[in-house]
Amino acid sequence: MSDKLRTVGGIEFAVADLTLAEAGRHQIRLAEHEMPGLMALRREYAAAQPLRGARIAGSLHMTVQTAVLIETLVALGAEVRWASCNIFSTQDEAAAAVVVGPDGTVDEPKGTPVFAWKGETLEEYWWCSEKIFGFPEGPNLMVDDGGDATLLVHKGVEFEAAGAVPSATEEDGEEYRIILATLAAGLAEDPKRFTRIAAGIRGVSEETTNGVNRLYKLAEAGELLFPGFNVNDSVTKSKFDNRYGIRHSLADGLNRATDVMLGGKLAVVCGYGDVGKGAADSLRGQGARVVVTEIDPICALQASMDGLEVRRLDEVVERGDIFITTTGNVDVIGVEHMARMKHNAIVGNVGHFDHEIDMAGLAKVPGIRRIEIKPQVHEWVFPDGHSILVLSEGRLMNLGNATGHPSFVMSNSFTNQVLAQVELFTKPGHYGRAVYRLPKLLDEKVARLHLDALDVHLTELTKKQAEYVGVDVEGPYKPDHYRY
Ligand code: NAI
Repeated sequence: MSDKLRTVGGIEFAVADLTLAEAGRHQIRLAEHEMPGLMALRREYAAAQPLRGARIAGSLHMTVQTAVLIETLVALGAEVRWASCNIFSTQDEAAAAVVVGPDGTVDEPKGTPVFAWKGETLEEYWWCSEKIFGFPEGPNLMVDDGGDATLLVHKGVEFEAAGAVPSATEEDGEEYRIILATLAAGLAEDPKRFTRIAAGIRGVSEETTNGVNRLYKLAEAGELLFPGFNVNDSVTKSKFDNRYGIRHSLADGLNRATDVMLGGKLAVVCGYGDVGKGAADSLRGQGARVVVTEIDPICALQASMDGLEVRRLDEVVERGDIFITTTGNVDVIGVEHMARMKHNAIVGNVGHFDHEIDMAGLAKVPGIRRIEIKPQVHEWVFPDGHSILVLSEGRLMNLGNATGHPSFVMSNSFTNQVLAQVELFTKPGHYGRAVYRLPKLLDEKVARLHLDALDVHLTELTKKQAEYVGVDVEGPYKPDHYRY
């Protein structure tokens, strides 16, 4: 239980400071102008209210852009409860503004319950994640980013069926122990809570690569409890947010954290998937020399053909000035690497979870010292006197040290989210316990909604051309296997 929990005007919430709402509202107003896809959906669905009756439990970075998503879901008729999916990613002014709402005041909030603030402890994070399920009748839809909310429901149901939460073992990390404790407390209060919640959920739409991987694993094991929409692999999500979003927010995070000159520096990008490509573009755009590490020969070849050097981390660890992980994998930068880095080398991660960089191992180096330069920027001084700078404690530094991706690209991602929520809510029973993607025509619609804002003049197919290439004049224009 957090001492931040309050109920005012019938709205339950836990945010840093409600008086930040006005500052948040100004930013939301500007973001709305940059989010044409979401605003078009508000207009399109204003009368039909397709989400009337929807009770959405959301776990996704509580930023200004997410505020526009939340208020779009509400504009389409939904009730919403929200938490952030990362301890450092909340913009406190956005969280406050969502609670107060466009028509409320600090004394009389009229908005949406939010449980999020920048700099949560892990205990507070899981407490907030649990609060999103607190609708009196339970939620019937979920929005997730990274799969933590989905994990909570699935673990809750598993332990309720077993009648008990297992005790943590030696191998369980700190975070899993906290999850178990959170669920044990809930189970003691209500032994069938998550079982009821899971039965009422029509589906989840998942935002990111790591969360989508978790959904497919659950589905393959036959353990997925409700339908899942893979929003990440809409083309207008992963080929835009993951790539062009990072191109913007990686340099932003590095600048705000360290203000170090990027031009001329040797930057090592681990992973050359969508996020890695954006990261490399970002660093190259600032004049850095970029080296890529990859395990996939296709992505390694792509990096090489893009003019980048491809090396193993071992080969460049002493030369690099900046190291950025983008793999979504575990143990990519180990303590042995960090010990060999140059004095004041910068280490940051933009993959979803914090285990790409061995932070736990770093803290255990005998004699190592950690100095806080400022929140989310730490100097780690090795016993030999040399230091490295670690950003956001190894968590998503583009959100921890900056404010994540800009509104325009998030409008693409979140327009997919809203369409997935409408699809799940308005077609109960239509989807099974599997993972689905939005049809390509809707993917193309998302792109279309963003063209005018950039003054794009799209060429129209003639009927003859459409017949020749075997598509409809209105689309979809590509087969599902097309890779963009
Ligand atoms: P992806 O699957 O396209 O790319 C990951 C790449 O890392 C792959 O090419 C893979 O071969 C490579 N890789 C895996 N293990 C490696 C290792 N040990 N060494 C070097 N390379 C390795 O995934 P995507 O979409 O690029 O996402 C990557 C991560 O970023 C995920 O965790 C995702 O959830 C997260 N993400 C973060 C965002 C942010 O704002 N920070 C935005 C979108 C995604």
